[in-house]
Amino acid sequence: MTILHVSFECYPIAKVGGLADVLGSLPRYQNNFGHSAHVIMPFIDNDFTKKSEFEKFYAGAIVMGDQRITYTVFKLTSPDLGFTVYMVYIPKLLDRSSVYGHRDEAERSVAFQLSVLDFINNAMQHCDIVHCHDHHTGFVPFLMTHGQGYMNLRNIPTVFTIHNAQYQGQLGYDKLNLLPNFDRQKIGLLDWDQRVNPLAAGIKNAWKVTTVSPNYMKELQNNANGLERLLQNESKKCKGILNGIDTATWNPETDAMLVKNYKIGTLVSGRKANKKWLCDHFDLTFNAPLFAFIGRLVHEKGADLLPEIIEESMSNTNINCIVLGSGHQDTEEKLRSLKDVFKHRYHAHIGYNEQLSHRIYAGADFLLMPSRVEPCGLNQMYALRYGTLPIVRRTGGLKDTVIDIGDGGFGICHDQVLVWDVCYSIKRALALYENQNAYKKLQRQIMKIDHSWDRSAQEYINLYNSLIPPK
Ligand code: ADP
Ligand code: GLC
Repeated sequence: MTILHVSFECYPIAKVGGLADVLGSLPRYQNNFGHSAHVIMPFIDNDFTKKSEFEKFYAGAIVMGDQRITYTVFKLTSPDLGFTVYMVYIPKLLDRSSVYGHRDEAERSVAFQLSVLDFINNAMQHCDIVHCHDHHTGFVPFLMTHGQGYMNLRNIPTVFTIHNAQYQGQLGYDKLNLLPNFDRQKIGLLDWDQRVNPLAAGIKNAWKVTTVSPNYMKELQNNANGLERLLQNESKKCKGILNGIDTATWNPETDAMLVKNYKIGTLVSGRKANKKWLCDHFDLTFNAPLFAFIGRLVHEKGADLLPEIIEESMSNTNINCIVLGSGHQDTEEKLRSLKDVFKHRYHAHIGYNEQLSHRIYAGADFLLMPSRVEPCGLNQMYALRYGTLPIVRRTGGLKDTVIDIGDGGFGICHDQVLVWDVCYSIKRALALYENQNAYKKLQRQIMKIDHSWDRSAQEYINLYNSLIPPK
């Protein structure tokens, strides 16, 4: 089966968050099952692409509004990736050094989607499934059915995966002029609540819709930033499939980013070496338990509460804390300023650092995830694989993947996103940590949990098969 994944992110080429990790691994696992999965994404001008070799694979043209735009598709095939990546390049539009946050976001995403459709139409010999990810690709299923010029694509099944319904990409109706002609009576398939809504369009028009965990799908039917009624209406074609992790990249035994590799049998010495590196490097106290947060410093992650959580917990206990992330300026500043208050026990690295994230998963004792919204969450799965106990709010995929120690599980869970709840969980973690035998037993247990893609990659294949008519 030939599968084309359409996305704005793909690790290691362009990563902002977990979307990239999923696109950087799911296709490889699908290929391992004997399929032919590819990724198509916008070209990005960064260190990775500067160092990589590309083949100029196709050149085509699209019409966007009153503009004729030529695009080039570069092909990157690297044995390390395990799948082919196509990158759509358009000078002055799809040539930036960062993925998001541009003023011409609408033009960028529409030009990308039109190029993808033109590419499938003219350059791909065969395609069984078009699998779109998040709102930047939400017009594709609509245009494949109702867009003028794409008649040939009508019978190719589409799957739309919602990685995060917080971001819907809403546009004014004037932006519809960017799309090619379509039957105007179908305009209701593109909007929601008086705005053009690419996420809603993806949900309405794709043959099947998935979310990245079963529990998130349930949650969205009650609260989806206004899309809950739509998700209720479309529930028959919706399914939650839990993300997996790339156990080749995220393997403490072979991870080249670690100071020292380890496996279950050597976890104590291996993790000690990684913690020592963190403590030496960031002036932390080695003998105190280390609590970490890694992620985007945004409201949905509960990051706005971190300064207070840290202040409260660090004032009353002897813990160390390390934060790695970037996002809201106010949170960044507050987190930075705590460095002066808790000397030798606290560090905030404001920014993005892949290597440091790996070392934190390997060296911290506990990982905090007080998320308000967490469609799946990969951090907790990486933490588990590296032997770091997760402390999570029971929401979205966190509820599907972490069981509280009080319920016979291996993590610490709380229900509210309140400073008090998280601080209480930290106290529970400390009580656990004091019993080193029980703590180490849990570490060994969590390192054995299998969150690899094998099962979920197969679930996607089953879903695709249910859409492909028998030959
Ligand atoms: P989301 O996609 O909502 O940000 P996920 O838990 O799915 O959350 O994935 C986050 C991914 O991004 C993980 O691979 C995590 O390690 C990584 N990450 C987040 N922030 C940073 C950062 N500042 N530096 C390095 N890696 C980060
Ligand atoms: C989104 C979600 C995150 C999920 C990731 C990958 O960014 O916020 O919870 O793990 O997508 O699906």
